[in-house]
This record gives sequence, structure tokens and C-alpha cells, in this order.
Amino acid sequence: MKQLRIAIAGATGVVGRELLGALEERGHPTDKILLLGSDRSAGEEISYLDDSLAVEKPEADSFRGVDLALLATPFEASRKLAAAAQSAGAWVVDLSPAHRLAPAAEARETAPLVLPGVNDGVLDAPFAGRIVSVPGAPAAALLSALEPLRATFGLVRAHATVLLGASSAGQRGIATLETQTAGLLSGREPDEEEEGSTAPPSPFPHRLAFNLVPQVGDLSSDWSSEERGLRAEAARVWGGEAPVSATAIQTPTFYGVCLEVLVELRRAPEHAEALRQALRGSSRIKVLDAPAEKIYPMPMLVTADPTYHVGRVRLLPDAPTWASLFIAVDNAGRGAALNALEVAERLAARAG
Ligand SMILES: NC(=O)c1ccc[n+]([C@@H]2O[C@H](COP(=O)([O-])OP(=O)(O)OC[C@H]3O[C@@H](n4cnc5c(N)ncnc54)[C@H](OP(=O)(O)O)[C@@H]3O)[C@@H](O)[C@H]2O)c1
Repeated sequence: MKQLRIAIAGATGVVGRELLGALEERGHPTDKILLLGSDRSAGEEISYLDDSLAVEKPEADSFRGVDLALLATPFEASRKLAAAAQSAGAWVVDLSPAHRLAPAAEARETAPLVLPGVNDGVLDAPFAGRIVSVPGAPAAALLSALEPLRATFGLVRAHATVLLGASSAGQRGIATLETQTAGLLSGREPDEEEEGSTAPPSPFPHRLAFNLVPQVGDLSSDWSSEERGLRAEAARVWGGEAPVSATAIQTPTFYGVCLEVLVELRRAPEHAEALRQALRGSSRIKVLDAPAEKIYPMPMLVTADPTYHVGRVRLLPDAPTWASLFIAVDNAGRGAALNALEVAERLAARAG
């Protein structure tokens, strides 16, 4: 990919910084990177290799000469930037929900949803547009862990309790949790705004510090937008009905997404070790499962780790086809930026 000119939109955000860090690790040349941000961060300098790169505001001709646009921007910005980049002839990998929730049949034609290791074969078939989207971190983690179990034992259904850290809500999520935690520790209620504060409003529906909130996204029906989104993404990645559901909970941790998953399999595994063996067959999964030695997945272990951690693998008592597992993933890294870059590398290979 080193010869490609790559634009990162949303370069100052949680995911954009991860994308830039991954390109830096790969030694992608400085003169082949363009950083885009909103009005707020235009002009900001970000260090890269031995140099620094200025963040630019997207303009009508920003994507001229760009081969690949990685979009780590909010929904509306991604929609506009994807269209502009595509018309300028660039390949687009969108990390936002803007394209990943399009109806399956229409999107298969124009903007496939691709999860490396699960359905990246779709990139070998022709599709009309130049936009590819990648799943959100919870769907990426759930589907990556279920895939080897589905292949070995067959899948009837799965339900996940998804525990999201504040960084899943971007920079605003992190800043809100920091302010609320520091405030409460100094005896100040989070809704008592500090005089002259220019802090952006909280993205959470209730105080998050020292709390848990069983609502992520809009909750005007039984299932929140986050929960419905995960199910829709599973259906698109697996190419049909997806027998998965989720309960999403916002937790007062900063980084990482964890999932406690209950899964019903078609064929009963002889023992839990058979499940671990199937999971170890995936190069993207690290099985951490020695509870007696206090070894299991935790958010603090996944930062900068390129694998999905899976542990606490058990068969349910008296229910031989039911299993339970616990997953942790770096939401911005493995769960987002690395998947986008793997898709980009495959697109680059396809383009020759
Ligand atoms: N956080 C996660 O764990 C995660 C995981 C997977 C996917 N995603 C998706 O990735 C996207 C970015 O998430 P994030 O968590 O990185 O958010 P974030 O920390 O809030 O960053 C958003 C970025 O988008 C930029 N931006 C906002 N409006 C823009 C516009 N009109 N034009 C150009 N740039 C604009 C912001 O620039 P300024 O700094 O100038 O405001 C910032 O760089 C979202 O769609 C999110 O759903 C997030």
C-alpha cells in the first residue's frame, strides 16, 4: 500500500488516531498521507514518523489524487465525504454506521459490509461502487468469535450483553467520563457545570461516572439503536437472517468493549475444550482461559493488542448445546482501525 495516497478523515478522533498510528507502524510515507478534520481541528499539527502533519478542513477538491479514503467521521460527514471521495475516483473504507446499515440487497451491490476473517471473500466479487464499510467494534468482536463455533458446531442463536467503554462514544465520551469522575471525587455533581466551562455536552443519557447505563443510542422501542444495529450488521456480514440479539450497556471504563455471550449450538460439543480448540483455529483470536490462575479477558489487556480475547468458555449445566463465553477487544484498534486497514490492503491488492 506504500505507493497509495491515503486520506484519513476524522484524524483527530479516537479511531482516526488509531488509523494514523497503524499507518505509522507500517512506515507509510509522510507525503502520501492527508489528514482531514472538522473546522474545530483544522490547522492542528499531529506528529507522524519524524515529521508532523497538518489537519485540513475537507474542501470540494480534497480527494483529488487520493487513492484511498479512510473515513472515521460521524454518520452525516461520512455520507458526504464518501460520495466526494468516490466521485474523485478514490476507494473508500467507511468506519461509521453511514453505509453499514443500508438494506442488505441494495448494499451488496454498492457498499458491502466486510469483516476480515469472516466475509472478506466478498471483495473478490465485483460490486458497483467504490465504498466498503466495516462493522462496529461489538459486531466485529461477536461475529469473529462466533464464526469458528458456527463453522464447527453450527449456530442456532446467540445473545450478547455488550459492555461499552466511554471511548466508544468518541472523544466526547472520554472527556465526559474524565470530567464527571474528577468532579465527583472532588465533591461536585456532574450537572453543576463549572463557570465558564466550554466542555461539549455529554453523549450519555445519565451520569456515567460510578454508574452503569443500560441504554446505548436511541431507546424508543424495546431494542436500542445500538442493539438493532448489531443484529443488522450480523445479517449483512453472514448474508441472511442473523440469529443474534444483544443488550448494550454503557460502562464507566475508558477503553475496550466486552461481551458476555450465550450461544446455542446445533451439535453439542463433548466438552468446553472443544470450543477452545475451535476458537484457537482463528489467527485473530487469543484464548485467555485459565480462571484458576486469574487469566481471562479484561479491557486493560486489549489496548493495542491486534487480537480478540476470548475466555470464560463454559458449557451450561444441563444444557449440552448451550455455551457461554466472554470477549474483550480494543474498540478503536482491532475492533475498528485494523479491520479497516485489512480491507484497504485487500482493495489495494485487487486494484493491482
Ligand atoms: N470509538 C469507537 O470505538 C468506534 C469504533 C468503530 C467505529 N467508530 C465510528 O468511527 C467514527 C469516528 O468515531 P470516533 O469515536 O473516532 O469519534 P470522535 O473521537 O468523536 O472523532 C470524530 C472525528 O471526526 C471529525 N469530524 C467531525 N465532523 C467532521 C466533518 N464534518 N468533517 C470532517 N471531520 C469531521 C472530528 O474532527 P474534530 O476533532 O475537528 O471535531 C474527529 O476527528 C464514528 O462514525 C463511529 O461511529 C467508532
